[in-house]
Amino acid sequence: TRTALSPRLMGHIAEPFVELHPEDAAAHGITAATLAVLQNDRASIVVRALVSEDQKRGTVFVPLHWTDQFSGKARVDALVNPATDPVSGQPELKFTAVALRPYAAAWYGFAVMAEAPGEIATGYWAKAKAKDGWRVELADAVLPQDWTAFARALFGLDALSEIDLLAYHDSAAAHHRFAAFSGERLIGALFVAPEPVAVSRGWAAEQLGRTVSTPGERMRLLAGRAGASQPDRGAQVCACFDVGAGQIAAAVAGGCHTVEAVGTALQAGTNCGSCRSEIRRIIDAVRIQKAG
Ligand code: FES
Repeated sequence: TRTALSPRLMGHIAEPFVELHPEDAAAHGITAATLAVLQNDRASIVVRALVSEDQKRGTVFVPLHWTDQFSGKARVDALVNPATDPVSGQPELKFTAVALRPYAAAWYGFAVMAEAPGEIATGYWAKAKAKDGWRVELADAVLPQDWTAFARALFGLDALSEIDLLAYHDSAAAHHRFAAFSGERLIGALFVAPEPVAVSRGWAAEQLGRTVSTPGERMRLLAGRAGASQPDRGAQVCACFDVGAGQIAAAVAGGCHTVEAVGTALQAGTNCGSCRSEIRRIIDAVRIQKAG
């Protein structure tokens, strides 16, 4: 996690976030998967809201490994009092007061790209290494004047480039989608919506470098949907063995009703163990669904 260059580690939660209790989120007008501003008299940061019963009321958690190299404005140590303990040298990481408010996003975006993006000027962005490229989360308080120009700049395509840029616009819903191909190879895709983008991150990242030749396959890609031959593995849960939530849910539906049984079937949870509580949550959720 320190170099942020391991796709497996960064695939787990590939953007900076604030974990907060549902009642605190509601009290501050923040909904799950939107963005939140955390502010005090030292700085302000913008991070994704992860609403969770696991977080104690009145407190928030923000991971500290996001640097300016990989995120627009998510360096949590900017908020921390620089006073350090005289013996250990530790700053007051766990005693930082912040005010919370929703980030007024005019749009949200998600992109996958074969090449690392250049400078990004949006109010919020975070990039993370994927297996064959990069995944990028975006948002801004203002709309760009020209979405096609925005997509070209993000993908690093100059005006004369031979790249095939496929676009889909639903102006009424304010949805915009782009896919860039070099020959038959996908080199970039951008999904834009007025709400947090509901596209499977893992699936989209897996499309990079794939040969996508038929018009049907290309349209499916723009729609952000996996084809029947490529089931969506879901968000990565086990970073050690690269296992997604969809795979775990399928194993549970197929009879694996304990964390150990899921581990035997998929290996998930059998190394460092940090994903075991998430696996347990999926088992409970699938079983409740089935019972209902
Ligand atoms: S993340 Fe290490 S075992 Fe799953």
